[in-house]
Amino acid sequence: MRLELRDVTKMYGSKKALQDINLVFDSGVTGLLGPNGAGKSTLMRLMATIESPTSGTIIYNGEDIAKKPNVLRRELGYLPQDFGVYPNMTPVEFLEYMAAMKGLSMNSARKRIDVLLENLHLSDVRKRKLGGFSGGMKQRVGIAQALLNDPAVLIVDEPTVGLDPEERITFRNLLASLSDEKIIILSTHIVTDIESIAPRIAFLTGGHLLANLSPEELIQKVEGKVWSCVVSAGKLSELSERYTISNAIQRCDGIHVKVIAEKQPVINAEPIAPDLEDAYLFYTSRKGE
Ligand SMILES: Nc1ncnc2c1ncn2[C@@H]1O[C@H](COP(=O)(O)OP(=O)(O)OP(=O)(O)O)[C@@H](O)[C@H]1O
Ligand SMILES: [Mg+2]
Repeated sequence: MRLELRDVTKMYGSKKALQDINLVFDSGVTGLLGPNGAGKSTLMRLMATIESPTSGTIIYNGEDIAKKPNVLRRELGYLPQDFGVYPNMTPVEFLEYMAAMKGLSMNSARKRIDVLLENLHLSDVRKRKLGGFSGGMKQRVGIAQALLNDPAVLIVDEPTVGLDPEERITFRNLLASLSDEKIIILSTHIVTDIESIAPRIAFLTGGHLLANLSPEELIQKVEGKVWSCVVSAGKLSELSERYTISNAIQRCDGIHVKVIAEKQPVINAEPIAPDLEDAYLFYTSRKGE
């Protein structure tokens, strides 16, 4: 299984949403990480064959999906960022409706729906109307519909928005359990969502692919560039004008800050081991330097 983007550019009028993206997805989870407007959803819509690239090609298992979209569509599960449910349906009614739209046989769909409701902790509310569901519950219904056809390629756009911490963990475990034999692409701007489940992270900002690396490699890039120091409030505002502040905690001896800087930012700053959050900030909000 292989999904490949070659020199993909997407324009909306004169706005370049994506520029010259080259990426290969094999089986397993890839996290698409980037700030608002980076182009994550655009990239996902192109891969989900909802929109076409302005230039470049997308190849799935050797076929150009511009010419043969159904080769991919048959094997695709997609959860759009702006996914909506029909409020007067129950989860079972909604999933049966989606299964029929996807052309699945009702017999096997019913069994599959039972399993998905169980896995996504929706069995107890299977007879309640979706209109009364919380954001997180709706999101789980959205994930269930993406998994109805047991897709070989699963594309989920910001799936953890609205999930509480416990639901996030459940969702992460679910993805991890699916990932061996599927291409799973998940977008987020929450670093901790993908750190533990995505062996690869594609980093997008402003329509450019900045890196496509493992979390460890990304962290390595900021080795020696993260500093810890204790400062006054006045000094902190001075520092934040020049550098990216990754963290600031008020303690009785002053404000403990984590600064991202190429060189020692203040005299008493000590270098510390970076984490993925620091790497994310390093790529997305480099200041001054
Ligand atoms: N249909 C559209 N028409 C015009 N511009 C668009 C359209 N869709 C996206 N864009 C623009 O393309 C850029 C990338 O948007 P996109 O939604 O892909 O980013 P994103 O990384 O998903 O952001 P977010 O984290 O907010 O979901 C933005 O500048 C956006 O305004
Ligand atoms: Mg988006």
